[in-house]
Amino acid sequence: MLYGADYNPDQWPEEVWDDDVRRMNEAGVNIVSLGIFAWSRIQPAEGVWDFGWLDRVIDTLHAGGIRVNLATATASPPPWVSATYPETLPADETGASYWPGSRQHFAPSSPVYRRLAGELVRRIAERYVDHPAVVMWHVGNEFGCHLWMDYSDAARDAYRRWLREKYGTVAALNAAWGTNFWSQRYGAFDEVFPPRLAPYSHNPSSMLDFRRFTSDMLLECYLAEREILLATGATQPITTNFMGPFKPADYRRWAPHMDVIADDCYPDPAHPTRVRDSAFQRDLVRSLKPGVPWLLWEQATDAVNWRPANPGKAPGALAAETAQSIGRGADGIMFFQWRQSRAGSEKFHSAMLPHAGTQTRTWQEVVSLGERLHRLGELPAPGSDARVALIFDWENWWAVEERDHPFDVEYLAVALEWYGALHHRGVMVDIIGPEEADARYDLVLAPALYLLRDDGAAALNRYAREGGTLLTGPFSDIVDQHDQFCDGGFVTRLGEALGIRYEDFGALAGPPASGMGVGALGATGAGDPQTVALTLDGVPARGTLVAEAIHATTAEVVVAFDDGPNAGRPALTRQRHRAGEAWYVATMPDAAGVDAIVARLLRETGVRPVVDDVPDGVEVARRGSLVTVINHGDKPATLDLAGTDVESGHPLGRTELAPQQVVFALIPVAEAPSPAGPTALTPAAVS
Ligand code: GLA
Repeated sequence: MLYGADYNPDQWPEEVWDDDVRRMNEAGVNIVSLGIFAWSRIQPAEGVWDFGWLDRVIDTLHAGGIRVNLATATASPPPWVSATYPETLPADETGASYWPGSRQHFAPSSPVYRRLAGELVRRIAERYVDHPAVVMWHVGNEFGCHLWMDYSDAARDAYRRWLREKYGTVAALNAAWGTNFWSQRYGAFDEVFPPRLAPYSHNPSSMLDFRRFTSDMLLECYLAEREILLATGATQPITTNFMGPFKPADYRRWAPHMDVIADDCYPDPAHPTRVRDSAFQRDLVRSLKPGVPWLLWEQATDAVNWRPANPGKAPGALAAETAQSIGRGADGIMFFQWRQSRAGSEKFHSAMLPHAGTQTRTWQEVVSLGERLHRLGELPAPGSDARVALIFDWENWWAVEERDHPFDVEYLAVALEWYGALHHRGVMVDIIGPEEADARYDLVLAPALYLLRDDGAAALNRYAREGGTLLTGPFSDIVDQHDQFCDGGFVTRLGEALGIRYEDFGALAGPPASGMGVGALGATGAGDPQTVALTLDGVPARGTLVAEAIHATTAEVVVAFDDGPNAGRPALTRQRHRAGEAWYVATMPDAAGVDAIVARLLRETGVRPVVDDVPDGVEVARRGSLVTVINHGDKPATLDLAGTDVESGHPLGRTELAPQQVVFALIPVAEAPSPAGPTALTPAAVS
């Protein structure tokens, strides 16, 4: 188990470093991410290199038994770079420059930035590649975090090259973008610009490509640095830190290039759905590399500084949130940052070692968490515990949220709503792309899968006909990979498997209130033109956004709309195949509706929760033989647990958990032992 933090010793006089290492040992820290923002200190001017201080820090850490995840330091170019090479600066959609003075002020596609960053990486790698303290490489930092899109001239040139490579001929580009409409036909690739500020909406197919391009440019920066590290002889794992469901970067395309997935997660202590939302994030990153533990690379020990209001964590919540990561596949627990800053933008951000010192609750919790984690010993491999998968696809996210649609969809909110109905029941879920739907899963949910690639359609068809249970809709299978309608109407690729014909979108008046939480899809009540009524297994529910007009060609109509524009017509359908079945829901159900449908599908498929009868506020997750049981609520909760307590070795049984209490339980997998999960975790391993 890795335990540690970002370490920014360049903020402190050298005398502090010995104290840092002593305290790190006290806290059980065994690794730090070093030098993430140290470019200006390493290279104070062009051609001038100062590695002396970094040599001393690394040696000090090594002598203290602390391993180093060494950064390539490219995330924040020094002032001299911006002053000498203004062409490295990114631009907003009006063409205005983002200026230096903060961080991440580089155009990812700028060849000059990449040359300067490359030289830095090469120098760092050559110097430290064989240092025994260096056990990992941290490339850049949170690629794209602050700068979601760059519209600079560097982006313009790179975009034209990227399009030329993708399409080969400008005729192919014109066809893919449908440029015969609105006089957008291009005569040459050099006539294309990034989607800078325009009088009205940009061509949606071009927007989709610009998003792909943006993700690819960030990935290219990562890959360029990775190549340099490898060329220098690096054998340590190489990665960068993800940010869970981060819209600009299609992490599913990035994941194969990471030796290990590292993720940063900062649940908002005040958000009512923080537990669900962070569980989704952890399941998402676990699913990017099945069978390989991931690393929680940054979290906060207490408050952050970057929300409008920044309350701290409840006592014990640090351990509870950490346990959520471990149960969902993490083998490393790290923080931003080791010692709280005394200057700069993040001086109010919590750290492992608070500015107020060691006589603080934060420090005590940090130390006790370190002890606890090290006692856990080796953990089973994650990644084969979920029988349910939720499809969450970046290209669909980009396309379905484009403008000029019959209604606005917040794709992440929709995904979270469906995920929540599984999560609160204690059902393990993988978060996958449509192409990954296969026999590992008894149930696959694909809500609002507006953009469906051909391979995804083929996989879902196969899945539903060969033994799985698929639920999709509404507003699914509407466009192809270019954001164009398919010939023959809508739901053309899945319609036969679903046994339905799709006639009309049936947009409702709206829009309903937006947000990430349950309220996003909250029902408003009878007679409201924004919603329609439907009754699901006796549960009154409301549909939002759409009441689609569909025809059941061969499917069974499970539920019809009770009112609204399509009253009496199918709202939920089911098509059985010889093996497998496909369900379609023709509206965006409210929380009660989603819950009722999920309950029904779990009954139909026989999928069980990790633990039965979990009380409200308690979260369970399985990772091979390890079951984490966490009371996130503010009241004590009691439940029956089989197995033994990993930390004490005692049998469990009826167990009361205080608020924020965590139990790590050893409960062998009953029916099908997981192939990936040897029972490495035994009470003996703890002693
Ligand atoms: C991100 C960054 C860190 C730090 C934290 C603060 O995760 O990677 O450098 O700014 O946010 O929460």
